[in-house]
Amino acid sequence: MSTPSPTDYELYLRVPELLRLQKPPSERACPDELLFQVVHQAAELWMKLVDHEMQLLAALLSEGRLAESTKTLRRIHKVLDLLTSSLETLYTLTPSDYMRIREVLGRGSGQESPGFKRLLAVPAEVYPHFESLLTKRHIHLIDVYRQPTVHAELFQVAEGLIDVDLRMQEWRNRHILLVYRTIGIGTPSLKGKHSELLERGLRQQFFPKLWTVRDDLYGEWSMANPSGSSYALTGTITPEPEPPVGPLPARAPKPPRRKAK
Ligand code: HEM
Repeated sequence: MSTPSPTDYELYLRVPELLRLQKPPSERACPDELLFQVVHQAAELWMKLVDHEMQLLAALLSEGRLAESTKTLRRIHKVLDLLTSSLETLYTLTPSDYMRIREVLGRGSGQESPGFKRLLAVPAEVYPHFESLLTKRHIHLIDVYRQPTVHAELFQVAEGLIDVDLRMQEWRNRHILLVYRTIGIGTPSLKGKHSELLERGLRQQFFPKLWTVRDDLYGEWSMANPSGSSYALTGTITPEPEPPVGPLPARAPKPPRRKAK
């Protein structure tokens, strides 16, 4: 019997090539290696798309096309959400199965992911276009935040950008939980103690000026409302007084029983 010729669907999407990119069952270290490969390969594709959309966003911003920029940002958010939730499929991987995969992974590390490297680099390529738009329009970033309804479109873009930042943190948070769940917290990995390395990443800001503007705005409000903002002005929290530690209070006597009528 001759093999059926590939359909247009298979030809267009190059399905045969795509499905050859995962190890066949006979070569897998354990059955779950398929899940591990699929999640990582799919992640590389989604990250490629985010990089592409971010570059599109840069071009739209440079032309001042704000409504389209907001639409592109919405798509980027959706894909980043998908990347984060896809990590959860690996919550079903047992530590011992991961160890089997680790043996065949060699010295490979997520830090070498080309897609993730682009996700780390591309925000710095986008932000200058937003800034030069502000300069062209003679608007300071803080004014956008002081009057979000006056500068509605710019505000939407700024908020869309910070939500990209937020989602990168969400990915990193979810990934850390996955790592701890799979290989523990103290285990040294290829690059030293992974918990220290990964937790450093959690403090990275991709659009630092969009975080600072919040401090500035809040600072202004604190100056104008000193009584309502003592926490914001001092930056310290007065702890609640600890309850005194001592012998447990004697039990309250039981109420007398009512006599049955
Ligand atoms: C069971 C699943 C996973 C484990 C145990 C794991 C483990 C780790 C560890 C230990 C690191 C620290 C660097 C190193 O020592 O190699 C790391 C980093 C990383 N992994 Fe994973 N990983 C898992 C799944 C994933 C998935 C599905 C992706 C998707 C692309 C991914 C992408 C990355 C990236 C991008 C980094 C660098 C993170 C950063 O710089 O903040 N990992 N991973």
